[in-house]
Amino acid sequence: MSTPAIEIEDLTVAYGERPALWDIDLKVPTGVMMGLIGPNGAGKSTLIKTVMGLIKPAAGTVRIFGKPLSETGSRVAYVPQRSSVDWDFPATVMDVALMGCFGRLGWLGRPKSIDRQTAREALARVGISNLATRPVHQLSGGQQQRVFLARALVQKAELYLLDEPFQGVDAATESLILDLLRTIRSEGGTVVVVHHDLQTVADRFDQAALLKVKLLASGPVDEVMTPELLQKAYGSSGAGLVTSRDGHP
Ligand SMILES: Nc1ncnc2c1ncn2[C@@H]1O[C@H](COP(=O)(O)OP(=O)(O)OP(=O)(O)O)[C@@H](O)[C@H]1O
Ligand SMILES: [Mg+2]
Repeated sequence: MSTPAIEIEDLTVAYGERPALWDIDLKVPTGVMMGLIGPNGAGKSTLIKTVMGLIKPAAGTVRIFGKPLSETGSRVAYVPQRSSVDWDFPATVMDVALMGCFGRLGWLGRPKSIDRQTAREALARVGISNLATRPVHQLSGGQQQRVFLARALVQKAELYLLDEPFQGVDAATESLILDLLRTIRSEGGTVVVVHHDLQTVADRFDQAALLKVKLLASGPVDEVMTPELLQKAYGSSGAGLVTSRDGHP
């Protein structure tokens, strides 16, 4: 078997005394599109941030393509949950897209015209060429989400971690994001998406991981999105949240 894109072992993460993630073991195979599911406060964002190396675990290990986080460089791209971004600096859309080059250039490297060209192409791919010179903090939430996607594309990452990219975006943005993620997967990329809409999990993802501080299940969508497991995660309302494919609850 090829090396998994993500391999998490015995992972525990705590904020102070309170564990947000408890003893997680999870493998994400290369080339899949995985939905990370679970109720509010389940630890989904915490898991993504820990995989990015933004939070230090209390215990356990995370390996990306078989390597420790310190060696993964620009192979991993991150699109944060929208409400978590505080834009208190006046970066333009172009500036943020160009940040995708920093892994290759180093923080002191100056972007060259080829990098600007790559950034322009990425902005075109997400449909915001016309916003290139606008300060990001002036954009709408859906537009900001596209800026982050452009940055991830510029990075030419192999693993994409997106925290609720479909939250609060209109239908056009939603289908644009979905198309992009499918293209990334068809080119061999691995995509992990925090997702809230249980109804669309089966259509959108090959695999799912169900989280509620502990990992309740992971694997092919059919095996994870069962009434029993959803009830465990969401309580008594959970079992009714997903109707089976023949339309019966
Ligand atoms: N910086 C922090 N300091 C203290 N506690 C935190 C911090 N960030 C998250 N938590 C707590 O950790 C738990 C998991 O939070 P997390 O943001 O990972 O959940 P989530 O699954 O992403 O939820 P949501 O669906 O609401 O985005 C929650 O109980 C939350 O209150
Ligand atoms: Mg979250």
